[in-house]
Amino acid sequence: MWQPSSPRRAIFLLSCAEIEFEILRLGENSNPKFQSYLSIFKYNISMAVVAPSLLAANFLNLEQECKMVNESEADWLHLDVMDGRFVPNISFGPMVVEFVRKTTKKPFDVHLMILEPGNFAEAFKNAGADHLIVHIEACPNLHANIAQIKSLGMKPAVSFNPHTQVSELSDIIHEIHHICLMSVDPGYGGQKFIPHSLEKIKQLRKMIDERGVPCLIEIDGGVTLENAASIMEAGADVLVAGSTVFRAKDPVNTIKQLKAISR
Ligand code: DX5
Ligand code: ZN
Repeated sequence: MWQPSSPRRAIFLLSCAEIEFEILRLGENSNPKFQSYLSIFKYNISMAVVAPSLLAANFLNLEQECKMVNESEADWLHLDVMDGRFVPNISFGPMVVEFVRKTTKKPFDVHLMILEPGNFAEAFKNAGADHLIVHIEACPNLHANIAQIKSLGMKPAVSFNPHTQVSELSDIIHEIHHICLMSVDPGYGGQKFIPHSLEKIKQLRKMIDERGVPCLIEIDGGVTLENAASIMEAGADVLVAGSTVFRAKDPVNTIKQLKAISR
């Protein structure tokens, strides 16, 4: 018979069940603003939002990989676009995103590791992006980039590199859907999680909670089944996982295990 791992976990699950019930009741309220706050609240009290990163997939077999994501408990699909200038690697552009869109049902979380991302925002919208992530280091006019993404009907997100301080985001968190905290140097999959990122997640959590804004914290790079719990505990909402998911023997089950991690 299944048993919770500890009394603390049992109390947590019971409270979740009660809150879940209340959410179902409140969920009958169809006001869109209320619904959007509700979904953020759900993320906060329950399980991790999991976003497998396509970069680690087998590109010879993309259709099969997308089907796996469809059938799994994954919440979003994370797509890494690299230009060989902002980062020292080139990945794929809107054309691949458009093809993948045809076989994938989950929301597309498109991570632009490119200079002048504003030049491509419309192309990625047309290719099927739901969230568009731009880098703070690549955007001298970040506020305008965010306005452009919103005007195109996508959810704006901002990513920042390991050397960038959390305080740099202070005047933008109320404008965006999520922050993508780079826990490795951007450009490649399969790198080791930078331990100092945990401290940055805590700082970000504090800033977001104090401000009371519905901005999610996404962690990108080096997320594994071993460190995911401490990442969530530090205050994360969304786990991006490339190698951990696509190189696993059983990717669907690995996604399930990541989803079961809560804070
Ligand atoms: C790195 C990318 C990541 C990468 C993560 O520049 O932004 O999304 O795919 O890969 P893993 O999970 O293998 O570190
Ligand atoms: Zn990414």
